[in-house]
Amino acid sequence: MSFFSFFPVRILLWFVARVALSRLCFDSRPELKDLIDAAGNSYPIGIWVNDWATGHLTARVVQIVIKEKLGYNVELKGPGALTLDGFFALTGCTSPGDPTDHGCGDPVDRVTDVHINVEVWTSFYQLVWDELQRKYPDRAPRNLGNMGYYGSTAFYVPSGVQERAYDAEGINLDFYRDYNSSRENPGRHFANPGDINVSYLLPCTETALMLNEVMSNYLDLTGDLEGVSGTAPDLTGKCYDAYFWLAPGCRTQPSTCLIWFTGGNGWGMFELLLKATAYNMPVATAVASSFANYGLVPNSYDVMLYWWALLGPLGNLDWSNQVLAGSCESM
Ligand SMILES: *[C@@H]1O[C@H](CO)[C@@H](O)[C@H](O)[C@H]1NC(C)=O
Ligand SMILES: *[C@@H]1O[C@H](CO)[C@@H](O)[C@H](O)[C@H]1NC(C)=O
Repeated sequence: MSFFSFFPVRILLWFVARVALSRLCFDSRPELKDLIDAAGNSYPIGIWVNDWATGHLTARVVQIVIKEKLGYNVELKGPGALTLDGFFALTGCTSPGDPTDHGCGDPVDRVTDVHINVEVWTSFYQLVWDELQRKYPDRAPRNLGNMGYYGSTAFYVPSGVQERAYDAEGINLDFYRDYNSSRENPGRHFANPGDINVSYLLPCTETALMLNEVMSNYLDLTGDLEGVSGTAPDLTGKCYDAYFWLAPGCRTQPSTCLIWFTGGNGWGMFELLLKATAYNMPVATAVASSFANYGLVPNSYDVMLYWWALLGPLGNLDWSNQVLAGSCESM
């Protein structure tokens, strides 16, 4: 989907939020209700918040609508850095974002105080979703459908990099075959691991590379034992220089790796690892240490960027269209 079908939805939600908020000010509604379980315990409805701007916004809108229209107490929980965290929170796991132990316990029934999660980017986590359904059939989350709009993510390449690569070698860098490190050396047109000031980055021990779900899936599909450490359920990605993970395409010569750059705790990592290895791309992953640095680094270094729409701090840069077929998500 395009940016243009995305934008009006956000405006509409903001408008709804404003109207709901202004009503709240004049509303003298009586006591709000709680949920009550079979044992007579009462608790508010819990909304799991995804920790990005539209995650916070849509969670607040749902909270206001439930309070105003259904008369229930609603608490916001989280936030979670990855869509995955919400899966675990809704399953009743006590530490959804802890990569080493999500705290899901035995597959018996248990009460969860988290009931709703919106702005969910699911498409790369189907295996985890299916596993939760299988292991915890009574308390795994259910997908109630599209909330009314779509999002798309992709890998973006700066236009300047594309021009230089085309002038020098006649490769256009908009198709995976131009990144095959057996034939090309695209890393020379990008920033490499040694170039980047690591004070802008998260150590890889704090990223999605530490998630067994991410790395087990990677290992199952690629068989790349050199790219991982440990064994399931403590399988992690192998770190290089504390901040990077290197794809097989440049692992023996890290200085030829191009930097693939993302935010959160490694948004898009699930997808990138597989594509980099399947397409033999010379890639080093790097994760911004804050949202501000996520916007700052691409202005200073030539990186391949994981992004969803060219808004905000990167709006003034000249970037090529998405490369390597992004994914489309229904919200
Ligand atoms: C890296 O960035 C930090 C923070 O901006 C700065 O203090 C430091 O001098 C930089 N290091 C190098 C080698 O440029
Ligand atoms: C990369 O190039 C090599 C050598 O030409 C070829 O054998 C291999 O199939 C290519 N890989 C992909 C993913 O296209």
